Amino acid sequence: MAGLFGKKKTGAPGAGENSLPERLPRHVAIIMDGNGRWAEKRRLPRAAGHQAGTEALREIIRFSSDIGIGYLTIYAFSTENWSRPQDEVGALMALLLRYFRSEIDELCEKNVRIVILGDVDGLPTAQREAVLNAMERSKDNTGLTLSIALNYGGRQEILRAAKKLCERALAGEDPAAFTMADLESGLYTAGMPDVDLVIRTSGEERLSNLLPWQTVYSELVFDPTLWPDFTKERYLEDLRAYAGRDRRFGGRNGAAGK
Ligand code: IPE
Ligand code: IPE
Ligand code: MG
Repeated sequence: MAGLFGKKKTGAPGAGENSLPERLPRHVAIIMDGNGRWAEKRRLPRAAGHQAGTEALREIIRFSSDIGIGYLTIYAFSTENWSRPQDEVGALMALLLRYFRSEIDELCEKNVRIVILGDVDGLPTAQREAVLNAMERSKDNTGLTLSIALNYGGRQEILRAAKKLCERALAGEDPAAFTMADLESGLYTAGMPDVDLVIRTSGEERLSNLLPWQTVYSELVFDPTLWPDFTKERYLEDLRAYAGRDRRFGGRNGAAGK
């Protein structure tokens, strides 16, 4: 795509350094990790790292929307993150509120639909109201679906879906007839495609309870960049790495059918 970075390409279309790969993932999930280390390197409080991380996030959401990614999931706060010191949890919650208040207008202008994955009821009142308001305001938008994993735990999500099936069985349905689609209908991601690509920044190589059901065949890219330093150029490199992968899904031929 010409002019992606505001400068004209001179080479053949698609051949430039900044060109988009031909095969883009439909659903990208990003584990935005490394805010704390970014701040520690600068002798700043960890909260400053989280704040800097929101700048990177703004750029990546915009870029995802501009290049036509259908679904972007970002891991903002895990169910395990409550175990951090109270001041850090407080700073993250305050940042969350500021983030929703300052970004919602632009996100709506860009036709972004916001979905929350996780236990919204477990959030403090002001945060809960802000995220519910963002979901309500953006629910009819038809562009990028931005899923924010917030107070999210993958095992908790599967347990919750299993409980919904139990309720249906107790109401008289035959459990022997339940399908994977039935279980999926009880996940926070109901109706969304599986994750094609997981990017985790900061060099850590694990999923930390993110979307275990939806990532069984995801391609994983571990990017050494600390999240606040992540840019659309890095993102593009990770998208290129994805485009070069041969996705077999247990079969013998690549997804491209070669
Ligand atoms: C990711 O950055 C943000 C959240 C988990 C909320 P970290 O705070 O985990 O940063 P590191 O891993 O300590 O560098
Ligand atoms: C994962 O990062 C959660 C988020 C990015 C929100 P963590 O920093 O919490 O993960 P671990 O503890 O290193 O596995
Ligand atoms: Mg971390």
